[in-house]
Amino acid sequence: MTMEPESERAVNEERTLPASSRIILRVNGVEQHLVVAPWTTLLDALRDYLNLTGTKKGCDHGQCGACTVLVEGKRINSCLTLAVMKDGATVTTIEGFANGEALDPMQQAFIDHDAFQCGYCTPGQICSAVGLLNEGRVRTADDIRELMSGNICRCGAYPNIVAAIQQVMKFGRRAA
Ligand code: FES
Ligand code: FES
Repeated sequence: MTMEPESERAVNEERTLPASSRIILRVNGVEQHLVVAPWTTLLDALRDYLNLTGTKKGCDHGQCGACTVLVEGKRINSCLTLAVMKDGATVTTIEGFANGEALDPMQQAFIDHDAFQCGYCTPGQICSAVGLLNEGRVRTADDIRELMSGNICRCGAYPNIVAAIQQVMKFGRRAA
């Protein structure tokens, strides 16, 4: 039997990845304890581990915005984020917006302005719109179009989405 030199064995041990990681996420106000593989995206953790399927998987490559959620109030593409990177973070998904039967003003505005057709992009659009307002740098319809450009709508509901966001800019909403 050939013995492995001591130095090589040490290098091999350092490269060993843990099969799983324990993390805690505070999702929609509830502390969730998860054991995930290190390569699990936040999107898959939400959908497959917590059954929060409101967050959609469109491209899975950061191109469409369907997977947008809020982390500490900031919008991110959850398909590009590893769950372990957000250990300890506060996450808001579309399921966390309504207060019981009362819709969030952004959700209501999307209904008021008929800002969706198939609805597949809508959870990401709403999370992104709220994140946009949290950023506090949007002033005009052109700003909305530019700063929402990461959220694709295959149904082409863009003018209605802009109108919905303008309604919330005018009348305000509580912070998410
Ligand atoms: Fe994340 Fe498309 S699914 S950007
Ligand atoms: Fe269908 Fe946007 S409403 S993709």
